[in-house]
Amino acid sequence: MRKLLVEGGNPLKGTVRISGAKNSVLKLMAASLLGTGKFEIGDVPAIKDVYTMIGVLESLGVKAKLIDSKLTLEVGELTGVTPTDLVQEMRASIQVMGPLLARLGWVRITKPGGCAIGDRPIDLHLKNLRKLGADIQEEHGFITARAKRLVGCEIVLDFPSVGATENIMMAATLAEGTTVIHNAAREPEIVDAQNFLNQMGAKIFGAGSNSITIHGVDSLGNTNYRVIPDRIEAGSFLIAGAITQGKLTVENVIPQHLVHLIDKLKENGFELEVAANSITITGRNKFYPANILTLPYPGFATDLQPQYLTLTCLAQGSSLIRETVYSRRFGHVEELRRMGANIEVDGNAALVRGVKELSGTSVRASDLRAGAALVIAGLAANGQSEITGVEHIERGYEKLVDKLQAVGGRIRWEEWTSHFLKENEK
Ligand code: EPZ
Repeated sequence: MRKLLVEGGNPLKGTVRISGAKNSVLKLMAASLLGTGKFEIGDVPAIKDVYTMIGVLESLGVKAKLIDSKLTLEVGELTGVTPTDLVQEMRASIQVMGPLLARLGWVRITKPGGCAIGDRPIDLHLKNLRKLGADIQEEHGFITARAKRLVGCEIVLDFPSVGATENIMMAATLAEGTTVIHNAAREPEIVDAQNFLNQMGAKIFGAGSNSITIHGVDSLGNTNYRVIPDRIEAGSFLIAGAITQGKLTVENVIPQHLVHLIDKLKENGFELEVAANSITITGRNKFYPANILTLPYPGFATDLQPQYLTLTCLAQGSSLIRETVYSRRFGHVEELRRMGANIEVDGNAALVRGVKELSGTSVRASDLRAGAALVIAGLAANGQSEITGVEHIERGYEKLVDKLQAVGGRIRWEEWTSHFLKENEK
């Protein structure tokens, strides 16, 4: 087992290159199942979730290789069954449903479980794949979907779900006729998927708006592509630069994907320089509080809520953090309280009263972004922190420790076995 040791108090200074977006590349990998032949995808982060998705694709008959951020896929004959363990391990595996249903006419996956941040049902995926003509049976924790040929129709999403939008969009590329998705999610990763699919021969229009039109085609080919930068990784580093009172530049970013965070950091009083594909933030020891309300894009990103809440722990005043996307995304709060933060949670709202300092201690990450928040807290705290539950962090941040060390972060991995395991070894 590994844990992270973080020595706080050192300002982060220098430049970090941001990796390709986890929440885009996983969908591009699923979308390749709609095509045939060889794909080369650039700027792919070497993170656990990508390797898990490689496992899913390989089990479906795809040859996959990731070398130096370049992912090569060879899509030939496919099977429609995804391995139980891989789907359990990563919720994003359900993104193969739409492509396989459209390509093969059948797919069988295990029902994804919930996770630390919420129940995360897939009712919107299933309801609307049925509207496209799929026969979907759920039994004994498995979902089996069949369809001779999907038929395009008008879809209205009850909630602008990112995954449901992507699954429906992909399924509709090979459906008969036209599909329109109303109240579609507008995340940049969906625009990335549209561009990738259109380069494969699909006819999709409107991604990035709340209405996406897909004209079905008979078949799709392949393409070479480069993933958009990871806006959540970039935002996480900007917050780390601010809270450590450093001067940090993130490069290989698309600033328009971060307008909400940039606006909030300016409201806090931080100075930001925004260039074509980089952003520089200058930290300060006294900064204002600010309130946030997480919403689907272009609202404040829920995936930056834990990191931003951590920043407000040291503001000169109180901040109200409201989480509207997930039912229980405050797993980081208890741990931050152990470091001396003053936070009151009531339902989906957290009131953070700024304190003078945080103190390093041992904390546990409950999920990916909570883990990032605890690393940020450790970098700003007085003294040393040790962070367990780091397997969550490795899912979504490529070379996090190397990147932080390169800009002055005092952080390192340490091997350890839990006391329980030691006791059992005796
Ligand atoms: C994607 O998850 C991201 N994951 C999440 O990032 C991100 O938080 C989320 O979009 C919102 O931006 C990937 O892209 C791999 P949703 P997804 O469907 O598609 C409810 C991270 O940290 N819902 O928009 O699962 C759901 O319960 C991760 O990188 C239904 O009720 O998000 C949640 O409350 C965490 N029924 C809300 O919608 C459904 O059928 C948002 O879910 C689907 C979703």
